[in-house]
Amino acid sequence: MTDKAHDPSILNDADTWRSRDLAVLWHPCTQMLEHPGTLPLLPVARGDGAWLVGHDGSRTLDAISSWWTNLFGHAEPRIADAIARQARTLEQVILAGCSHPPAVELAERLLAIAPREAGREPLAKVFYADNGSAGVEVALKMAFHWFRNRGDEPRRTKFVALENGYHGETIGALSVGDIPLYRRIYAPLLMEALFTPSPDAYHARDGQSATGCAEDAADALARLLDDHHGEICALILEPRVQCAGGMRMHDPVFLKRARELCDVHGVFLIADEIAVGFGRTGTMFACEQAGVMPDLLCLSKGLTGGFLPLAAVLATQTIYDGFLDESRERAFLHSHSYTGNPLACAAALASLDIFASDDVLARNLGTAAKMATLAAPLAGHPHVADVRQAGMIVAFELTRDGNRRTPFDPARRIGLHAYRAALERGVLLRPLGDILYWMPPYCIDDEQLALLATTTRAAIGEATACA
Ligand SMILES: Cc1ncc(COP(=O)(O)O)c(C=O)c1O
Repeated sequence: MTDKAHDPSILNDADTWRSRDLAVLWHPCTQMLEHPGTLPLLPVARGDGAWLVGHDGSRTLDAISSWWTNLFGHAEPRIADAIARQARTLEQVILAGCSHPPAVELAERLLAIAPREAGREPLAKVFYADNGSAGVEVALKMAFHWFRNRGDEPRRTKFVALENGYHGETIGALSVGDIPLYRRIYAPLLMEALFTPSPDAYHARDGQSATGCAEDAADALARLLDDHHGEICALILEPRVQCAGGMRMHDPVFLKRARELCDVHGVFLIADEIAVGFGRTGTMFACEQAGVMPDLLCLSKGLTGGFLPLAAVLATQTIYDGFLDESRERAFLHSHSYTGNPLACAAALASLDIFASDDVLARNLGTAAKMATLAAPLAGHPHVADVRQAGMIVAFELTRDGNRRTPFDPARRIGLHAYRAALERGVLLRPLGDILYWMPPYCIDDEQLALLATTTRAAIGEATACA
């Protein structure tokens, strides 16, 4: 029998794959008119650690962990084996009315490692969804429905979100997101949310510290919550880093103040750690850096080590109890066909095992320090206005003259030029506008880090050469 997957006449031709792809595929987050001319399509035959391997054996460094999902490298054998074992045991079962060990064990282990706060009831229940956006929908619906069930505050129907935040693409998640490129066209469809200034330290006034900037944003949040007292069910935010918003980082003091303000106003705090959870910012969860615990915690992306789509929403007992009633309508009737899929849960369990066996967070401290050392010289580049870091995330903000207030004209697409220049040198960067960033798999080694740094410098140089 011919093994088509290993037939070299099929595999060794990247151009054939490109044209077959473009004949039938509609790619996510892509203006398809840009393929193949403006935007190169990278055909990938397989993954190997931090490398994406092409059909001709060429290697490209996955500096963005494939949309921030991959934690320990591609095709990590321990996770692959766990999925294979699970596939031979139980691949899928309806989770309404049925139970299976991977779903139970994963919930137990997530609750055991979830952020805690002295004097606050811990997160106690796990609800599964299939992807990050669906997880956000779950958290928003839970917060809203909880107040409906309680019935004594009919005006509590609104959500507060941060300017420049991102929570996904489904209509509810998009409604609490504030990135015009994704949101504007759908505005007539979206539910109304209240936006409060971002604590983003990049917006600090001259001479103002990141802490001062975060305090200002917290003051603005306090005013908004005062103005809308009794109308808000939840505040949703991305702790520490607004990732899709350009890897913009804020001082943890904002989270502390936001938590206090939510308590004062009886508002739930939803922490969207879909991108920053599982060690990305240095701690297992970013909330830990502020010593706060949310009422609802959204997890996805790295949850399965980057192998399979899965989301988990962790809730307090108080929230869970608010749905217990004789009436079915008061139950949380949200569901997805693949809710709690056993293969995805098995992958997540294997991923948590790796955190423990490989002492990943401790190892990442060393890697993050190396990333800092390699990134530092770029701060002096005439077109780099800011180099910032939170654990395993480093971002470079490109502007016309290295000044924060002089961004490039977006039409010049400097980031896209940098993207192409890096790809030609074997590194997948995929910038956010004119912001380049590193968010590599944790297995990245010294040689790969060095390649990343030299390529980033070269890509910035090439993209800004005529600026
Ligand atoms: C903070 C955050 N929330 C939610 C999402 C949506 O997740 P998904 O793409 O799995 O729907 C993302 C995706 O980038 C994200 O970064």
